[in-house]
Amino acid sequence: MTAMRAFNFSAGPAVMPDAVLAEAAAEMLDWHGSGMGVMEMSHRGKEFGAIHEQALADLRELLAVPKNFKVLFMQGGGLAENAIVPLNLSQGQTADFVVTGSWSQKSLGEARKYCNATEAANTQGNGHTTLVDPAQWRLSNQPAYVHICSNETINGVEYHTLPDLKALGCDAPLVIDFSSHVASRPVDWSRVGLAFGGAQKNLGPAGLTLVVVRDDLLDRALPVCPSAFNYRTVADNDSMFNTPPTYSIYIAGLVFKWLKAQGGIAAVEARNIAKADLLYHAIDNSGLYLNRVAKDCRSRMNVPFYLRNESLNDAFLSGARERGLLQLKGHKSVGGMRASIYNAMPLEGVQALVRYMRDFETQHG
Ligand SMILES: Cc1ncc(COP(=O)(O)O)c(C=O)c1O
Repeated sequence: MTAMRAFNFSAGPAVMPDAVLAEAAAEMLDWHGSGMGVMEMSHRGKEFGAIHEQALADLRELLAVPKNFKVLFMQGGGLAENAIVPLNLSQGQTADFVVTGSWSQKSLGEARKYCNATEAANTQGNGHTTLVDPAQWRLSNQPAYVHICSNETINGVEYHTLPDLKALGCDAPLVIDFSSHVASRPVDWSRVGLAFGGAQKNLGPAGLTLVVVRDDLLDRALPVCPSAFNYRTVADNDSMFNTPPTYSIYIAGLVFKWLKAQGGIAAVEARNIAKADLLYHAIDNSGLYLNRVAKDCRSRMNVPFYLRNESLNDAFLSGARERGLLQLKGHKSVGGMRASIYNAMPLEGVQALVRYMRDFETQHG
């Protein structure tokens, strides 16, 4: 399988570990002698029950989720959570949003339908290339929650330390959209009330949404909140109030097993640091490539970069494709290039990219 596979730098849906795809392929027709593929199983049967339970247990262990948090497997992705979170947590009151890129901007816009969503900071003025010191945030008096996007997938800006709201004198729960760096590094749960993320970057296939929510936040939903999106209802039904995305959960479970075999999140984080350092070093030491994000908040997962001579963009992308380096085009809202280097991207993939970037620069320099 490996010989045919290119290095895929897509921002999501994204590269999966070869071992996971191979295992899923081997089990496609008959899961563990059950005579059924996972896609064909009832979500209420004992076979899927075992898959679900193991996936949950492995995820809790990997992310060191404390006992007073529920792990929910939901649907709708990050964009649905932009509505589901205020429906569950805002109580129609005020919620504060720290806008550091496209995704937190979208979260703020959607929340305005359900509550008084206010902007505590916005880095648009510098093109979303920095974070704002939490001490500078304009927090409301007793907001229902404070929302951040802990890794901005498009702009390539990541919080390397989560803000400590308590230290700012704010008792509100911190909500983090960790869609694009979940499981790439440990989470300091003492600073978090709720975390959500779509699976399609670091956890598995699209269709599964992970929500990790502190117990005391389960009973705040607005009466209009749809039952299937009510965290209390979902939690009380072990994520089976409606039919869950069974196949996506199964694949995510294989990814969790793979992450454990890699040595767990700390080991994976060390590899992610090495990959990101290699790529940023190549960008910063070139005359052709440029990354505009401040060094203290550069994303380890999503590395946007520009060619100083933008007329070379198409040549860069087609040359990359010829070398088996795929999906490097930047998001249409910001242009340029973006290399997403999630957990499943091997170091060899980043090395191959850096080699290509050097060769291309020599050829066109
Ligand atoms: C940080 C972040 N939040 C939210 C989303 C939206 O996710 P979805 O398309 O699954 O709704 C994305 C998608 O790329 C994202 O990167």
